[in-house]
Amino acid sequence: MLPGLSQRILVCVAWPYANYFLHVGQAAGAYLPADIFARYQRLVGSEVVMVSGSDSHGTPITVSADRDGVTPRDIVDRYHPKIVETWERLGIGFDLYTTTLTENHYQTTQEVFLRLLENGYLYEGTQEQLYDPEADRFLPDRYVEGTCPHCGYGEARGDQCDNCGKTLDATELKDPRSRLTGAIPVVRESTHYFLKLTALQGDLESWVRKQAHWRRNVLNFTLGWLTEGLKDRAITRDIAWGVPVPVDGYENKRIYVWFDAVIGYLSATREWAQKAGNPEAWRPFWEDPETRAYYFIGKDNIPFHTIIWPGMLLGYGGLNLPYDVPANQYVNFSAGQKQSKSKGTGTWVLDLLDRYDPDVVRFYLTSIMPETSDSEFREEEMVRANNEVLIATWGNLANRVLSMVHRNFEGVIPDHGPAAPESEAILQEAAAAFERVGSHYNACNFRDALNECLRLAQLANRYLDVRAPWKAVKQDRAHAAETLTTAVSVIGALRTLLHPVLPFSTQVLHEDLGQDGGVAAAGWEYAPIVPGTVLRGPRPLYAKLDPLEAVLAE
Ligand code: MF3
Ligand code: ZN
Repeated sequence: MLPGLSQRILVCVAWPYANYFLHVGQAAGAYLPADIFARYQRLVGSEVVMVSGSDSHGTPITVSADRDGVTPRDIVDRYHPKIVETWERLGIGFDLYTTTLTENHYQTTQEVFLRLLENGYLYEGTQEQLYDPEADRFLPDRYVEGTCPHCGYGEARGDQCDNCGKTLDATELKDPRSRLTGAIPVVRESTHYFLKLTALQGDLESWVRKQAHWRRNVLNFTLGWLTEGLKDRAITRDIAWGVPVPVDGYENKRIYVWFDAVIGYLSATREWAQKAGNPEAWRPFWEDPETRAYYFIGKDNIPFHTIIWPGMLLGYGGLNLPYDVPANQYVNFSAGQKQSKSKGTGTWVLDLLDRYDPDVVRFYLTSIMPETSDSEFREEEMVRANNEVLIATWGNLANRVLSMVHRNFEGVIPDHGPAAPESEAILQEAAAAFERVGSHYNACNFRDALNECLRLAQLANRYLDVRAPWKAVKQDRAHAAETLTTAVSVIGALRTLLHPVLPFSTQVLHEDLGQDGGVAAAGWEYAPIVPGTVLRGPRPLYAKLDPLEAVLAE
């Protein structure tokens, strides 16, 4: 185990709206990185809790409900189980994946609201809002469409422009129209609670300036917001679906979805503790300043996690702020179009899992993780990556070596004489990889971690080519024995190194290497597979796939 790396870690992952299936962009952007990170931390012996849940309020849910003529709760009941199934089949190992509809979440949200009010970080004020005179109701931002004041895009939504990505206020739109009736909305005043971000500006600024370990784009984006100057934000809305505002006179209003959703991280940790039979167990994860909280999100969620939620936490007092927010860029698919469920385009993770093994999907998504720039998902590339990289570099290596031990040494790791220099060299590489790969995982550079593993696999392939044990076994059994024993140890190292990315197949391999229990329990350390070990299997780890015509992914 690497010294000093084991610690207490809270892994928070963005709460997806429960209004549709999960798409590949969400998986590669937040859930898979979070899971890889959590698995790595568990391997090094950290105490990890990973939470998230279905974001069940907000206009994404009510728009879907209106469209289908059902209640918002029906929408959540329809898609939440599908999202849970996605995590199970993709191997995303949450300690708790809940929803924002629980009693516990409502209580926690209201408690945070009241504490912020008491501490002077909430105040009542009026806001101009768009009102649909035909429908006779206030229009939430997403219910308004119009022309973006920044880029001129004609179909910008009232909360955000899908073209230039800027967040908007519905009243800023040019030529606004109601998505309910098509009417031209009128401006009306309404009373709401505001979060006093202006009072938190100084504290937030000095906190952000200390976060030198954040990704460059996350830090710059956040500093940009702070430089422009924070504005107070309304955190209640004239809507009927959401957490009730715990104040008299607000019976017809609800807490804004973003305010309650980020509180989900806290309420979910509490729910996890309750379910684990130790209701106080959430405290060290939020109250011990030594605990590190990581937030895995997409770039469109950055300000909510680096400014607004930290601001709420500062105002609340006594709870940990994020340690890191390794936000990802977008995954595009087919010719540069952004995956968007509001537009009904995308590749659904469950569809992929009907056709591909989870580790194949995980492998490809890790290789295209949009850590530094947007990337592109192409199904035919996934097939190619499976055949030409996953199998050619790694799967075949493991299979070849284990098969030779079975064929020539009855499946028992043979004893052998002193190691040849090239064997010493590759074993040293395998041992050193733990440090290198580990620091990539720890820094949330998952592509680099994977590439480093593949580099070791390539070295092992070259080692085998040079030593040619399939030939040696006929003239010099000791030579072959020494080669295969060495190669099995390198494969054993790669089983652990790759485990965070490929948890299913490395578990199969772990068993075929004659090891009991789970890979995770074996720990993050180089442990040679010793002579006398009885191998099982070997089972092929991956299946070769028929190449797809490029046109299928268009
Ligand atoms: N539901 C939001 C989205 O899909 C993300 C919410 S993340 C959290 O963009 F902060 F609310 F948790
Ligand atoms: Zn725009």
